[in-house]
Amino acid sequence: MIEEIKKRRTFAIISHPDAGKTTLTEKFLLYGGAINQAGSVKGKATAKHAVSDWMDIEKERGISVTSSVLQFEFGGCCINILDTPGHQDFSEDTYRTLMAADSAVMVIDASKGVEAQTRKLFKVCAMRHIPIFTFINKMDREARDTYDLLDEIEKELGIPTCPVNWPIGSGKQFAGVYDRSHKKIELFEDTMKGTRVGTTKEIGLDDPQVTSYVSEDALELLREEIELLDGASAEFDQEEVDAGRLSPIFFGSALMNFGVETFLNHFLAMTTPPLPRMSDQGLIDPMKEEDFSAFVFKIQANMNKAHRDRIAFMRICSGEFEAGMDAFHVQGGKKVRLAQPQQMMASERKMIEKAYGGDIIGIFDPGIFAIGDTITVSDKKFAYEGIPTFAPEHFARVRQVNTMKRKQFIKGISQIAQEGAIQIFQEFNTGMEEIIVGVVGTLQFDVLEYRLKNEYNVDIILENLPYEYIRWIENTDIDLEELRGTSDMKKIKDLKGRPLLLFINSWSIGMTLERNEGLELSEFGRS
Ligand code: G4P
Repeated sequence: MIEEIKKRRTFAIISHPDAGKTTLTEKFLLYGGAINQAGSVKGKATAKHAVSDWMDIEKERGISVTSSVLQFEFGGCCINILDTPGHQDFSEDTYRTLMAADSAVMVIDASKGVEAQTRKLFKVCAMRHIPIFTFINKMDREARDTYDLLDEIEKELGIPTCPVNWPIGSGKQFAGVYDRSHKKIELFEDTMKGTRVGTTKEIGLDDPQVTSYVSEDALELLREEIELLDGASAEFDQEEVDAGRLSPIFFGSALMNFGVETFLNHFLAMTTPPLPRMSDQGLIDPMKEEDFSAFVFKIQANMNKAHRDRIAFMRICSGEFEAGMDAFHVQGGKKVRLAQPQQMMASERKMIEKAYGGDIIGIFDPGIFAIGDTITVSDKKFAYEGIPTFAPEHFARVRQVNTMKRKQFIKGISQIAQEGAIQIFQEFNTGMEEIIVGVVGTLQFDVLEYRLKNEYNVDIILENLPYEYIRWIENTDIDLEELRGTSDMKKIKDLKGRPLLLFINSWSIGMTLERNEGLELSEFGRS
């Protein structure tokens, strides 16, 4: 069992939409032999569906509107890639998924650099101090200056970088990469526009034959850049990488299959097997703890009226899982049978019999699990650290069309919030009569409207609010009446009565902090 766990590599790919996450994932599957030909993983075409197609999306993608995980084998490792939905699917689930990963691969478009969504996802990874690997993609197109890109990553994200390889040209001139540890040039050969696995040719920088592959100018530039790099960039240091304080950098083109295999090889050697997780009884180490344990990081409600079941996605943290096994739901204080376990393979769902620490499984949920819950075996009653609440960025006031249906409305909206699809807040000085909904991605507003109508028979009107920033107040002893905010600031509270602040402008946050000495604001809510 420990051998099986040691083989696991569970990671998420984070990127801004269009940087090439889907393409790179597909190429990993291609190299892993899980698919035969590029083009078979559903990508953007599905993700770009309008909301009115919601049910169709459900049908087409099974439960995977906020899908789960792809598993395949490569180089003796069993790889779990966690899907972090982007585009319109971007939601709190995207962030929560990162809680189940042991490391992250950050894909950056070489012509664009660090973009908004990368920044947000990076922050969540950085909060957990997990290793972050960077793949600078689309080198087959005109790229920005390599040094500029690295500088931007370091300055904008605050993480030092260490290029493992270095690109030779970009666009049509992109010939390959120079591998700094092997001190060899890897030349890319034709991959029939990326449809087949590419072969690479290795050649020493000083090999007399090198000039027949790379132009004199490009070689000279490469020599200069390497010399500069050896003097200027951070040295590779596995401990720093493990602690999430240094990001190894790779260059390539996912579309052309250039640099994908070399990335996989280096990445798998540098990334980590399943990591220990904090619980209320200290760290639980999968290499030592033999019994099964897991935590729920996502709950997917079935949108189909005929099937009101839900799927609870859990990350196995230790031990071995067997289909139908009896387990213990710590928060519920009850025994549970883990039925209908599922896993995603490429674009299909399949039932599984066994899974191990590091794996992700989806379990049929009769409505007992909540996000962050721990599942153990009966004589172990520890609970894993909860999953924080992430800052929504879109807010709306919710009004009912028919006020007679107050009860259903409250029930529906509370249940949907409990599943974690939305967050609900109240005006600071009133009760449930005024409800403010916060979401990470605007699609969740449509989901809320759709589900309230279809499952609870309640019509609502959403009135968008201009706020974009929310902050939890960390101080427990603060007098909110005395708080000196900005004109765009609004005080609200969550369902537990904890105070929060909403702002329209980001600079107002700094201003409010300045005006109130000792005030502590946080972007993450404690569960
Ligand atoms: P995402 O999941 O991060 O959103 O990105 P995705 O892989 O869907 O890629 C977005 C677009 O970028 C796709 O073009 C894809 O083919 C292209 N792309 C991905 N990797 C590379 C690369 O290494 N080089 C080049 N040149 N292009 C790449 P598309 O589906 O044709 O859409 P669009 O071009 O019409 O937007």
